[in-house]
Amino acid sequence: METKMRAIQGMLSGWAPFDLAALRQNAVILREACHHSESLFEGGHVERGSRAQATVWEKPEAFDREFQKLHEAVETFIETLDAGDRTDIAIATHDLRQTCDSCHATFRKPEP
Ligand code: HEC
Repeated sequence: METKMRAIQGMLSGWAPFDLAALRQNAVILREACHHSESLFEGGHVERGSRAQATVWEKPEAFDREFQKLHEAVETFIETLDAGDRTDIAIATHDLRQTCDSCHATFRKPEP
């Protein structure tokens, strides 16, 4: 997901050519990854080396809400891509990034 996010942000910040079709492709892969990643937490077990906080399973409602926000942000992002307004796209990218960071801040352990 990070790779896709970087690709998207790179294109928007200008160091990669702005290419709506490529952006959309990245966004669609990101959306798949987001849905897939939610299921990774369902078993309730923590793998060795995992940076998932115990709060993921202690506060499942809050964790689900964060995922819900992520899904919505990805959908909005894809909608702005379809509409094609660069300002809206930039705002949606920023919002999307924030949903990643917001969840990591609560549910992911800091780097070892
Ligand atoms: C609902 C909460 C949540 C959201 C939203 C979320 N993440 Fe995460 N992310 C986690 C947790 C928890 C971990 C730690 C998982 C682990 O170490 O087992 C993690 C780990 C990661 C990792 C480390 C990958 C790995 O395999 O260890 C990356 C990169 C990452 N997230 C990127 C993103 C990006 C980019 C987004 C937004 C598009 C995002 N995440 C949104 C909770 C979230």
